[in-house]
Amino acid sequence: MRRKVTKAIFPVAGLGTRFLPATKSVPKEIMTLVDRPLIQYAIDEARAAGIKEFIFVTSRGKGALEDYFDHAPTLEQELRKKGKDQLLSILKDTNMDSGAIAYIRQHKALGLGHAVWCARRLIGNEPFAVILPDDVIAAEKPCLQQMVEAYEQTGGNMVAAMEVPASQASSYGVLDVEEDMGQMVKVRGMVEKPKAEEAPSNLAVIGRYILDPDVLRSLNQMKSGAGGEIQLTDAIAQEIGGDNGVYGYRFRGQRFDCGSKSGFLQATVSFGLAREELREDLLGFIRDAVRMENAAE
Ligand code: G1P
Repeated sequence: MRRKVTKAIFPVAGLGTRFLPATKSVPKEIMTLVDRPLIQYAIDEARAAGIKEFIFVTSRGKGALEDYFDHAPTLEQELRKKGKDQLLSILKDTNMDSGAIAYIRQHKALGLGHAVWCARRLIGNEPFAVILPDDVIAAEKPCLQQMVEAYEQTGGNMVAAMEVPASQASSYGVLDVEEDMGQMVKVRGMVEKPKAEEAPSNLAVIGRYILDPDVLRSLNQMKSGAGGEIQLTDAIAQEIGGDNGVYGYRFRGQRFDCGSKSGFLQATVSFGLAREELREDLLGFIRDAVRMENAAE
């Protein structure tokens, strides 16, 4: 029987320089879409997919992230006293069970592959998920859950995949497709951040992975790749042609690149519009703004 995926790694060691000065004192993952920090979306998605152990690869200055998952007894008491039950239950959903969460430091920023490798001892010999919290995915069925269900059929290694314009391929890991089965593709090659003219396709890797522990063994080699960093893409590519294989999974949902300011703003608007209590107000504002833009042209 295939082993269940119950552990997930969240690489959150990045400095978030694109959001300076905000990230001078606030970890990027604590920045909020409407009223929930980015990391909460990632955690909720992992929980829905059956993840029980949450491994954060952090760095200096990420203390606020660790505090965020702690119980807040004084605050809870206050809300209880005031009868704010709904808020209380929202707050309680952010608590993590004792022992369910672990923090590992990545001491040097050597790349995503290295960050994942830092968690190797906590993973052991089990398949595991990796979630990049910058990639926020709005979906009826959470993306990782879709992937876990598909993975139950395929095993091996699976990466979330999405078509991107050719001009953007150089920002991603890109798949070389051996066989296109529609929802899923079998992969025969993977290139991290290829030059536009060298991209093998326009199918890009998005930050959700289900990986075989063999990938961690490949990472032991510490080979540096694109940008001089130890790339997760390269370690996964080493699995191609082996017993396990690599699959790309075209998830159903809308992905926001919350590592960029524009993506973050788009996610804010989209998640705001999805909230019944905000929708009307926000729509009115957007309509007015568009009208004024058009009038000015
Ligand atoms: C990382 C991965 C890349 C992937 C991307 C998805 O790159 O290395 O393969 O396509 O996430 O967001 P980063 O965006 O951290 O440079």
